Amino acid sequence: MTMMSNNDILQLHDKQFKKFITREQIHDAVKRLGAQITADYNASEVVFVVVLKGSILFATDLIREVHLPCRLEFIRAESYGTGMHSSGKVNVTHYTGMDLTGKHVIVLEDIVDTGLTVKQILAHLEEMNPASLKIATLFLKPEVCKGTVATHYVGFEISPLFIVGYGLDYNELGRNLADVYILHETL
Ligand code: IMP
Ligand code: MG
Repeated sequence: MTMMSNNDILQLHDKQFKKFITREQIHDAVKRLGAQITADYNASEVVFVVVLKGSILFATDLIREVHLPCRLEFIRAESYGTGMHSSGKVNVTHYTGMDLTGKHVIVLEDIVDTGLTVKQILAHLEEMNPASLKIATLFLKPEVCKGTVATHYVGFEISPLFIVGYGLDYNELGRNLADVYILHETL
């Protein structure tokens, strides 16, 4: 059940969330990352590997800000967890052909928390011998992952709290929100 009480507070399942990052701020960050990628790859072709499900809003907005020849592939990385904690075990599934040999690859992630998911995705993609392999993530929790994984393009560094919206979910709800909300512990 999703219930809006006002514009800035919303309820998803048993928890309340408060507006944290606006759609305008997200748009600015996505534009900045798109410009950075466009400049860095200097007209080379890029393959974006989109990590389902959370990254789809980020991916569809970002690729329109990238002015390079580019391809899209999709994978799913399930961490066998529900709610607010990942279980630590990651299973990677492909949905598309993915010949990455000799390609410049950028993995599109919604959020890097412990970094475990993205690390296992990188190890998996590395075996396909790409020419280069980088990560673009909209959100990074630096205090949690503590630099254990190299994130090349980062939209926002955030504190170690739980967020939803713009693709990110709490038990599958909240992905469709245009703004990002943070867990409101005190309500
Ligand atoms: P990891 O800890 O970096 O492996 O993150 C695992 C996954 O947990 C991410 O890909 C997200 O799907 C999810 N996750 C981590 N932090 C959040 C959050 O604040 N909100 C929603 N999902 C999150
Ligand atoms: Mg999730």
